[in-house]
Amino acid sequence: MSDAVVFSSRTGNTRTVAAYLAERLSLPLFSVNELSCCRFDRLILGFWTWRGGPDPAMRSFMERLRGASVFFFGTMTARPDSDHAARCAQRTVSLLENGGCRVIGHFFCQGRLDPQVFERSAHPRTPQRLALIREASVHPDVQDCRMAEYAVRKALGPTCPPEDDRTIFPLKKSSVRAE
Ligand SMILES: Cc1cc2nc3c(=O)[nH]c(=O)nc-3n(C[C@H](O)[C@H](O)[C@H](O)COP(=O)(O)O)c2cc1C
Repeated sequence: MSDAVVFSSRTGNTRTVAAYLAERLSLPLFSVNELSCCRFDRLILGFWTWRGGPDPAMRSFMERLRGASVFFFGTMTARPDSDHAARCAQRTVSLLENGGCRVIGHFFCQGRLDPQVFERSAHPRTPQRLALIREASVHPDVQDCRMAEYAVRKALGPTCPPEDDRTIFPLKKSSVRAE
């Protein structure tokens, strides 16, 4: 069984979680732009949420993917237990299943919104939205990464390497490997 972590990240949030998972589970790590096709049986796909679904680069990768087993995770401004996250999960599952992929699990956590994007945003600055953006600004944190690891371990089962006590947060940039 060959597994890999593939991620798409604009400002680094999704990359942080992806790199953590790759390190903890001893899996190869790829940016979505490095892989034109897929030679892995099982994939852990990470995206930043864009308009309630996977970002364009990951969406395009998912649309081309056929028959793989997929665990996906996303970072987003919204809370992971929100209706927004549930709809995002549903859209992603449909996208993958349309290509004959099997979804074996998923995970969401919050991720800091790029302040420049916030400045330019046409969304009304309601107190609720401002509070959400403040809340998201400290994510993903080590707890998010640990919860993501837990969810992936549960989905992949006994093929995962045993857990250990290594502290690997914050992560080094060098943990991203070229294909
Ligand atoms: C253009 C754009 C669209 C976004 N759309 C959503 C969205 O629909 N829902 C949401 O919760 N967050 C949304 N976000 C927030 C990002 O998904 C979030 O900040 C994410 O953690 C960024 O990940 P990255 O650092 O890996 O790029 C959006 C951000 C940008 C820049």
